[in-house]
Amino acid sequence: MIVLGIETSCDDTGVAVVRDGHEILANLVSSQPEHARFGGVVPEIAARKHVEVLPAMLQAALERAQVDLDDLDGVAVTRGPGLIGALLAGWCFGRGLAQARGLPYVGVHHLAAHVHGALMPALAAAEAVRYPLTALVVSGGHTALYRVTAADTFVPLGQTRDDAAGEAFDKVAKLLELGYPGGPIIDRLATQGNADAWQLPRSDLGLDFTFSGLKAAVRRLAIEQKIDPGNASDGRIRDIAAAFQAAVIDMLAATTERALEEFSSEGVVLCGGVAANRALRARFAALAQRRALPLYVSPPPLATDNGAMIAGAGHRRISLGDFDPLELAARSTWPLGS
Ligand code: KG4
Ligand code: ZN
Repeated sequence: MIVLGIETSCDDTGVAVVRDGHEILANLVSSQPEHARFGGVVPEIAARKHVEVLPAMLQAALERAQVDLDDLDGVAVTRGPGLIGALLAGWCFGRGLAQARGLPYVGVHHLAAHVHGALMPALAAAEAVRYPLTALVVSGGHTALYRVTAADTFVPLGQTRDDAAGEAFDKVAKLLELGYPGGPIIDRLATQGNADAWQLPRSDLGLDFTFSGLKAAVRRLAIEQKIDPGNASDGRIRDIAAAFQAAVIDMLAATTERALEEFSSEGVVLCGGVAANRALRARFAALAQRRALPLYVSPPPLATDNGAMIAGAGHRRISLGDFDPLELAARSTWPLGS
């Protein structure tokens, strides 16, 4: 069964063709450099760019996958949560295509798709995935822990009370004038810095997260040290990047460990854009190994937003004949497991 996946919840346009929920035939992502000079995503621009690039991306994805429209068995589109204008661009495009071709159509939860993305390599290798899983979703818009009791069944355990972890990376990078998105830049700079040069705070909210105190501490430190923002050759900026990243990773790991202590688990999932962070992946690899649990972590192309995770997550419902009606609405807010 071949499913087309469309992702437009934020500023990346993803179009993918996936066979049987895990075999990726094409996974194209178009990012929008237009937002860089604003240091964050401008919703109006994001929506317009999705509309602009979707037709050519569909064509390119079909060519890459060496299939044509007649080979598709269904269309899966991100229904939410996300920026509503951006979501609607993909939603209407996918729905129009499904209607014109008489194809089944399903709306996918973006965070459930991130979790599915982390499981895709195991599914492709025909490994049996055992439930329940403890899943940490860390992206630019979300930071949350879930207990996944079966495919598509999520129990929320905790979430951020302010910024998402990726948002904190982006804001710290903006403060230090390092560029956007901040995550990959800080990831790189942190490898050249000393994480112990400064002691930054770690907060503890049970199974919830908070990053605003850490962000404020970085701002204070930059002022105290009279940091000249944007000067990446200043070793202190690399040290701040390393110390900030270490604090974020400590909090994400400690909270996940707490969930693993409180709830039985057959595996750990790390997914979302921040899961591309190398030091975070290494920490989770060690954490899972200590507990002799399998770690399911999204490979980098499946960590940040993409269409393959949407097609993969939508495949299950399409194969069960559980389609959505064409009048279904996209949702900017949509708690997972509600
Ligand atoms: O999942 P995603 O592509 O979009 C959302 O659904 O939010 O995540 C994007 C976020 C951005 O905040 C970006 O800075 C962060 O993921 N990110 C990273 C890395 N790569 C992307 N954060 C830390 N380290 C990275 N290597
Ligand atoms: Zn995402």
